[in-house]
Amino acid sequence: MTGKTETTFELTDSASGRSSQLPVRTGTIGPAALDIAALHKDLGVFTYDPGFGATAATESRITYIDGDAGVLLYRGYPIEQLAERSSFMEVAYLLLLGELPTSRQLEEFTGNIRYHTMLNETLLRFFNGFHHNAHPMAMVSAVVASMSAFYHDTMDIHNPRHREIFSHRIIAKLPTIAAAAHKHSVGQPFIYPRNDLDYAANVLHMVFAVPCEPYKLDPIASEALDLLFILHADHEQNASTSTVRLAGSTGANPYAAISAGVSALWGPAHGGANEAVLAMLEQIGSADNIPKYLAMAKDKSSHFRLMGFGHRVYKNFDPRAKIIRAMCHKVLARLGRSDNPLFELALRLEEIALKDEYFVSRKLYPNVDFYSGVIYSAIGIPRSMFTVMFAIARTVGWVAHWQEMISDPLMRIGRPRQLYTGPTRRDYLEIAKRA
Ligand code: CMC
Repeated sequence: MTGKTETTFELTDSASGRSSQLPVRTGTIGPAALDIAALHKDLGVFTYDPGFGATAATESRITYIDGDAGVLLYRGYPIEQLAERSSFMEVAYLLLLGELPTSRQLEEFTGNIRYHTMLNETLLRFFNGFHHNAHPMAMVSAVVASMSAFYHDTMDIHNPRHREIFSHRIIAKLPTIAAAAHKHSVGQPFIYPRNDLDYAANVLHMVFAVPCEPYKLDPIASEALDLLFILHADHEQNASTSTVRLAGSTGANPYAAISAGVSALWGPAHGGANEAVLAMLEQIGSADNIPKYLAMAKDKSSHFRLMGFGHRVYKNFDPRAKIIRAMCHKVLARLGRSDNPLFELALRLEEIALKDEYFVSRKLYPNVDFYSGVIYSAIGIPRSMFTVMFAIARTVGWVAHWQEMISDPLMRIGRPRQLYTGPTRRDYLEIAKRA
């Protein structure tokens, strides 16, 4: 651990009188962290923090969030500045390598990504093994895991060059895999990548083009997608990134670790929320029904939650949601669809929820997923592909975190402890003697 130690914290067990001096580690910004590594040795107890609400599982230099102030920085750069002035490929370089690239570095990096966009043909045939109604996330997760059976030349996790080629390969191939999953589900032929297009434009080409007619790329759609990719690229130790780190900490091959991340992202409490938001807005249907659904969201006996609302870290506006909301206005206007009923409903829902005591007192604000689906559907992305789009972007963050972890000489396997509440020791009873 390299975080500076300036103070210590003394913890005393009042029953035994034993105490432990725990160092307080400080980072560059944000709350300090109590280093409890010696706690079990000194006092014989573990810490208990289900859901990791108060636990820093690692040190990291990649992304910083101040949830109370609604601040998000990638390698120190505010998300608002990156969203306005950068591109997804530049942000990918920044997250992976720590600094903004020069023009030459960016050109070389982009070239490396383009070089790897195609999939091994045998791997492409895997899709035919899925039923037509398989969810694209299921196909993406399986095909990413299967990459470890194909790309043996990048499996030595201790070899920096292998790790670099893996990074380029996975970032380059995720769009190809994602688009193939979509094409399989709609029964259309796979479309090969076009390396003359930029990253987001190539995604749209592979998702929407068909072999029988030329595909006319919409620059508004590719700009919007590039911006959404920037906003989704990383978010420090979220559930899927922590999953990638935990799986990767065992020394598992990186494709397996990223596939674990894809699976974790799919849950509706995480990246699956963008799909769930659209389903919820359609279910609500009109502004008149908002009170009924808000009441359901507040009712603890109902499983209904206001999707796209609330966040473990943000107790204020998610800065990404603010950017996407503004972007919805612009994109819909540029597409000539300003009177989008789902967007109108989302705006009204936000307005009403933000005045409601339940949401105000719990500091529940719209998160990144609340408005992203409006843009995805406006540019024609089918709902089942929303979380896949998120996965394409977040792959960059997963890879950056995996690289950071693997290149740390102090890396250890991730292995949480528990508070056991099961039966105490008992003896085995022959089946005939059981009641
Ligand atoms: N609707 C209704 N009540 C909510 C909601 C919601 N969306 N979110 C939190 N609450 C309530 C919750 O019931 C609890 O109430 P109480 O104090 O009375 O028990 C309180 O607010 C605190 O919630 P929590 O469940 O302890 O918060 P958490 O940090 O464990 O969960 C969350 C965070 C994002 C999973 C949750 O807010 C949620 O389920 N939101 C809806 C799903 C969603 O939009 N997820 C996307 C998250 S952002 C993008 C990403 O991570 O990929």
